Order: sequence, then structure tokens, then C-alpha cells
Amino acid sequence: MVGNHSADDRQTPTEELVVVSNREPYSHAYADSDGGGDSDDREIEVQRPVGGLTAGLDPVMQRAEGTWVAWGDGEADREVSDAEGRVRVPPEDSSYTLQRVWLDDEEVEEYYYGYSNQVLWPLCHGDVGNITYEPRFWQRYESVNERFADAAAECARESDSGSLVWFQDYHFGLAPAMVRSQVGDETTIAQFWHIPWPSWESFEVCPQAHQLLEGLLANDLLGFHVDPHCANFLECVDACIEGATIDWDAGRVHHAGHETAVESFPMGVDAERIERLAGSEEADDFWADFRDSQGIAEDATVAIGVDRLDYTKGIPERIRAVEHLLETRPEYRGEFVYVQKASESRSRIPAYQQLQREVEETVERVNERFGTDDWTPVVGVTEMLPPESLYGLYRHADLGLVSPVRDGMNLVAKEYVAAQVDNDGALLLSKFAGTAQDLGNYAYAINPYATEEFAETIHEAVTDSPTDRKRRMRQLRQLVAAYDLDAWMDDIFGTVEDLRGEGETDSGSGERDGTGGIEGQSAEADGGNV
Ligand code: F6P
Repeated sequence: MVGNHSADDRQTPTEELVVVSNREPYSHAYADSDGGGDSDDREIEVQRPVGGLTAGLDPVMQRAEGTWVAWGDGEADREVSDAEGRVRVPPEDSSYTLQRVWLDDEEVEEYYYGYSNQVLWPLCHGDVGNITYEPRFWQRYESVNERFADAAAECARESDSGSLVWFQDYHFGLAPAMVRSQVGDETTIAQFWHIPWPSWESFEVCPQAHQLLEGLLANDLLGFHVDPHCANFLECVDACIEGATIDWDAGRVHHAGHETAVESFPMGVDAERIERLAGSEEADDFWADFRDSQGIAEDATVAIGVDRLDYTKGIPERIRAVEHLLETRPEYRGEFVYVQKASESRSRIPAYQQLQREVEETVERVNERFGTDDWTPVVGVTEMLPPESLYGLYRHADLGLVSPVRDGMNLVAKEYVAAQVDNDGALLLSKFAGTAQDLGNYAYAINPYATEEFAETIHEAVTDSPTDRKRRMRQLRQLVAAYDLDAWMDDIFGTVEDLRGEGETDSGSGERDGTGGIEGQSAEADGGNV
């Protein structure tokens, strides 16, 4: 049994919880959205969170009965919401309010595709060459932040018992200060920044560096996945914000009469659920059908990569490493299959379109170069898979290749590990993923750019003794199970409680060990039941 938290011992904030994220936890769509017809008589379907943060936070919100503020998108979302943009969710047994913020096309273009994803995204991933800045992007980012901040402040004011406003991610660099100016110190404001924070040397190219830092310093708690991102943030504050004092050891910034705690919380996954679904009959059936339909031999060595099509994920670099392996070690030809599950993302942005072309071309090249009538070296999967199928792929893949060129955390690595119910897979993990801070000691480390070494590490992982591979995987599974998604949230809510001086809380998340993982919890050491 993995996981450490029953529903009863989970932390829920004592204050009214207001979560703010760009993506919404439930979205509504017309059942025949491609088929036209009158919106009046069309059936509306609810699309539920299937993974990641929205899926993880949804049960917390159901217990907390708070409000979730998010971008409402499309006609069906509007049809089911009231005049204020509110709808109760989950639909079958509603327990919290989804407060939608309506964005028009220009707002989406300039705030989401513009400043968020063509300025902050590349900037924070240290990829300044991919930044496209336009003044209108910034203006719109400001005005959209104001709209989300107004919605959050209104929800916060409605509560008599005080509120915790919890922002998610880089879409809201200014909103914390905007909320603070409306609600004062009564409201606790926290934010989790899900992507890296770069060094000052990179961040100073941002024309709005000062405004963004000021915006974020209105938080009581600012969370990053790993310590180096906290250190980079403090370094930026030190260089840019005059008058700010920093307690480097404690991770505290005093500025303009306010204190911000800057701490790391390495996000986890719902390991118990993944394990359960990976071990299900549906997962096995999917795998058997998939292998048949792709002509993958039963004794083939299968590696898997699962990514959004994003230039930070190192997908072409990974396929080139596979190509190098096939080139330099002919014994893998006909025996090794790399499955790339890729989902289209942000494809209105030219850098993403270019990446899509590059991935397609690289796959085609490798398959043309080495493929035969009965063997395709690189198999692409683009359709959305239900969780059972995805976890079935993870479980049966001999290798998980997770090779981002830069990543805040990368939960695919943790999902792959959680799905290894037979303890027999090997995780190859980029040194440049936040996950490497947690799992780096037991994964096979790779530099995505070092093609030859990457290919050799694939060979090493394949040829290592099954005992060594199992030993590594058991350690990895212990770490992933011990600091899972629940533990991550408990850690954050516990820290918020501590900061508010509402007494010592036992966050239930154990002591972090030197690897950034967590020790001292109930995951079983021998892996027998894990
Ligand atoms: O990794 C950061 C993040 O915002 C995630 O929280 C999210 O799952 C992912 O990027 C996808 O982003 P988008 O909402 O742009 O599709």
C-alpha cells in the first residue's frame, strides 16, 4: 500500500480557500461541438480533471468547500454559469464554487499566448533566445491579472473567518499585490510557481523584472519546487528590489513592511491511484492491444517518453539519442522501440509550431533510416489516452526517458516510477529537471544534449542486472510514494498555518532527506507491496 494519507488525516486550510489558476478544474462543452446546431438544444458535457494539479486539488476543494477562480472558456461554460460567472461543481454533488473569469480573444492572445508563454515561459526556463516581447503583451498581462485579482479579492472579502488566496503559476505575477491592496493583511496570500525561477543574469533581461518581483513579494508564502529556484528568486530580489532585506538561511524577504517566506515544496503525484490503475486489467488489455497494433514484438525492449510538445522537454534531443544508439549499436536494431506520446500544446506560438515540425521530421528520418517492414523504431502516439491506458504504457515500458532541457519539476518521471508495480523499469532522468533533486540518486542521470552519453546510458540501463534495476526502482518508488501529491499539499497548508502563527501543525509529511526526498513515512522498504 503506498501513500500516507487517509481522507481523514489530510490538511484542509482553516480559512476559506480561494484557489486561482489559469486552467479550470471543470470545463463545459457542447456534446456535438463540431457538428454545429443551435446552442439552445445542444447537450452539454462536463470535462473533468484527468491529472496534474487540477485533479489533485479538486478533492481538497471539495472538502474545503471554497472557491476556485479560473479562465472560463467558450459558450457552454457561459451557458451553465450564472450572471456572475459562477457555477457549482462537481456537477453531480456540488461542494464548491467555480468562479469563471471570461477572457476575450485578444486577452487570450496577449496574456496567455503572449506575455505568459512567449515572455515568462522561455525567460524562466533560461531560454532567453525564445522570448518574443511586445508591449501589448505586458499591458494585457497587467489587465488580466487585475481581473483575476478582483475576482479573488471579492471571494476573499465574502468570508467572515479570513481567507487563504492561493495562486498557481506564472500567469499571475502581479495579482498577489493587486489582491493585497484590496484586502490588507487579514487575508493570507500564497503562490506556487510551477516552473523554474532563473538566475538574475537571465531574469534581468525582462523589461518588467521589478514589477513582477514587487507583485510576488505581496505573497505571504511563495513556493517553488526546488531549493535552487528559491535561491535564484532571492538573488533576483537582492539585485533588483532596493530596501528589501533577505534572510538567506530562513528564506524570508522583508520588504515594504511585509514578510514573504520563500520555500521549496517538490510536487508529487497521486502514487496510490497510479499504482492501482497501472495494475488494472484495463491497463494490461490496452498494452496487449497497443503492442499488437504497433507490431511490437513481445521480447522487444520498449522505452517511453510522454510530453507536451514543448521545446523545454528535449524531445528532438531524445530521439537523436535513440538514433545514435541504433547507429552505434546495431544489436538494438529490430529489438528496441521508442514510444513517444506527445500532446499538442500552445500551437499558435511559432516556436511550438517549429518544434512540432522538428519532432515529426526527426521521427520520420529515424524510421526511414532504420525501420524495416516488421519493425518501426520510433512509434508516435498523439491521441489522448485514458489514465488506465497511459499507466499501462508506463508499466510495461522497460525504460522511462525523461529528458527535459530545463523543467521546474516534471511529474512524468514520478508517474512512470509510481506505475512500476513490478519494480522492473528503469528511469533515465535529465539532470536539468527539478525531479532530479528528488530522484537523481537512483535514476540513470542524463544530459539531454550529450547525445553519445545519452545513448550509452540507455545501453547501460538495458544491460544492468535485473537486481540492480530493481534496487534502484524500489528506492525511487519509496521516494515517490512518501512525498506524494497529498503530502505536497499538506506541506504547503501546514506552512501557511505556521506562518499565520496558528499553532504548530503536523504536516504529516516527514523529514526531507538529503536528496530532497522524504523519509520516515509508511512506504514499504522491500517493495513487496509497493
Ligand atoms: O508546467 C507549468 C504548466 O502551467 C502546468 O501547470 C500545466 O499543466 C502546463 O504548464 C500546461 O500548460 P497550458 O495550460 O499552457 O496548457
